[in-house]
Amino acid sequence: MSTPLFDPTLISSEVASSLPDGYSIRPACKSDYSQFLDVLRVLTTVGDISEADWAERYDWMAARKDEYFIICITDDKEKVVGVGSLIIEKKFLRNLGIVGHIEDIAVSKDQQGKKLGLKIIHALDHIAEKVGCYKAILDCSEKNQGFYEKCGYKHAGVQMAHYY
Ligand code: ACO
Repeated sequence: MSTPLFDPTLISSEVASSLPDGYSIRPACKSDYSQFLDVLRVLTTVGDISEADWAERYDWMAARKDEYFIICITDDKEKVVGVGSLIIEKKFLRNLGIVGHIEDIAVSKDQQGKKLGLKIIHALDHIAEKVGCYKAILDCSEKNQGFYEKCGYKHAGVQMAHYY
């Protein structure tokens, strides 16, 4: 496995020890390429991304230290079965407050319902708190609202979008 995207000590030991036997949680790595993208495909269109494209984007994110926290859950065969991202936004307001954006949560179809999604959110929440966020926010479809409520999130505001 290649160098992790961020400091692995930011991964909650409580979440790590609560996973099913043989499963692990860790920062994403450059070598995750095809397995990571396959899991993301349960969420939406990923497109035809070459390994070189992936590597270029990964390096761009890795260079933005302390901004991109992307995690993977692997199963007992070290296959990536769940992914999630926390992106950090530094603001002027709230005394230079920091907001965490939860994005791109996905669990492989055959692994859903094992609380892996919940563990991903708890792990990202832990990182958000550790790096000083005063809140974490996310957008989701109505069909996933119940999942995020189970994770401790509350409905707040309305999502707006302008596609280009
Ligand atoms: N609606 C209501 N409750 C739900 C839903 C849902 N859609 N999905 C799960 N739950 C409940 C479970 O029943 C469980 O409840 P319990 O504790 O009472 O038993 C709890 O939420 C935790 O469920 P998990 O087992 O952790 O859920 P899972 O591992 O299947 O992950 C996820 C949920 C991530 C939504 C998964 O189904 C998935 O990958 N879906 C496709 C991709 C997707 O829609 N991702 C979210 C996009 S939004 C974003 O990324 C910010």
